[in-house]
Amino acid sequence: MTSDLFPDGLHQQLSIFSLTSDAGSSQAPSEPPVKAVPTPEDQLRLARGGELVPDDEYSLARVVHSHSVVWKDYFVLRYADIVSTAMTPKHECWWLDLQCGTGRLYEVGGSYHQSIAMRVLDLPRPFHGYFYNDLDGDCISALTPRVARPDRNTHVRNDDVNSQALLDAIFATVPRSALVTVYADQQGIDMNVDVLVALARRYPKLDVLINFPATGYARAMHGAHGLAQGAGTAPNFSKAGRGLNHTSPEALFGWDAAETRRRVRAQFEQELAREGLDQVETKPVRLHRTNAVIYDLVLASRNPFAAKFFREATAREPSGQRVMDLGL
Ligand SMILES: C[S@@+](CC[C@H](N)C(=O)[O-])C[C@H]1O[C@@H](n2cnc3c(N)ncnc32)[C@H](O)[C@@H]1O
Repeated sequence: MTSDLFPDGLHQQLSIFSLTSDAGSSQAPSEPPVKAVPTPEDQLRLARGGELVPDDEYSLARVVHSHSVVWKDYFVLRYADIVSTAMTPKHECWWLDLQCGTGRLYEVGGSYHQSIAMRVLDLPRPFHGYFYNDLDGDCISALTPRVARPDRNTHVRNDDVNSQALLDAIFATVPRSALVTVYADQQGIDMNVDVLVALARRYPKLDVLINFPATGYARAMHGAHGLAQGAGTAPNFSKAGRGLNHTSPEALFGWDAAETRRRVRAQFEQELAREGLDQVETKPVRLHRTNAVIYDLVLASRNPFAAKFFREATAREPSGQRVMDLGL
């Protein structure tokens, strides 16, 4: 950790991670002891947000099929920790989670985990405010009591991420002068980049942390390609166009899926760069078994410090965690 970022050593004292330790000894997020409950896989139900199951807190957890997802959360939490430690003494800092889920994860064949929505509440230097949203009413019913803590300034909404109602609620709650970190962990390609553009116009100090679905976009467009050969799914260029704010999304269709992903990413970054968020960093999150990229965790900001924080947060893999992947 460079001393210009944390001149008073505050981060080293307060961080839940050991950022100054040697590579490979960074500490995985701690977990409360797992309670013994019957395996709930047979109680799966499909919800808007994928699969939910009754959990060990007599509530609902979101099912994750890959331990890689838990790894991605590690990088997000580490970033939140660095930002809150460095910036809360100087700025009013807010955490916006646009697709927050239930607050709890169930890793198939494994154990329960607090999701990011909960973990950010327990940072040593908490954010001044937390704003949560999810379209799924069941997710919100599960999350609301979990985040209703008297010692935290939390707000919860149950809106479509692409709605004006959500933007209005955020604008009415989060001060314009705040340093805002918006986390978007979307389902498929359901969030339009316009949402981030609107937030960027409202908040001069906005940092975007997004689980960017380049593969989801490529899949939508290459499904159309397959259909032309009689073997694919229905084309969904219009959804891709809406998501990326592109009037001719066919232009993003590459000669192979990798090229489509590259063009899609470039289009997304261009939309944010137009609003001045041109400091961009990316951390591919891979399946441990196959090494295939399942997510691109992307940071976009106007401030080079945010990019520096992100590089710091993602510099090391979370040692101490299992490397065996359970498969998608
Ligand atoms: C991949 S899950 C992530 C949830 C959460 N971050 C977690 O770790 O549990 C995506 C979430 O997006 C929500 N979602 C899907 N479409 C949405 C929309 N249009 N607006 C808001 N939330 C949506 C789902 O209900 C789901 O909870």
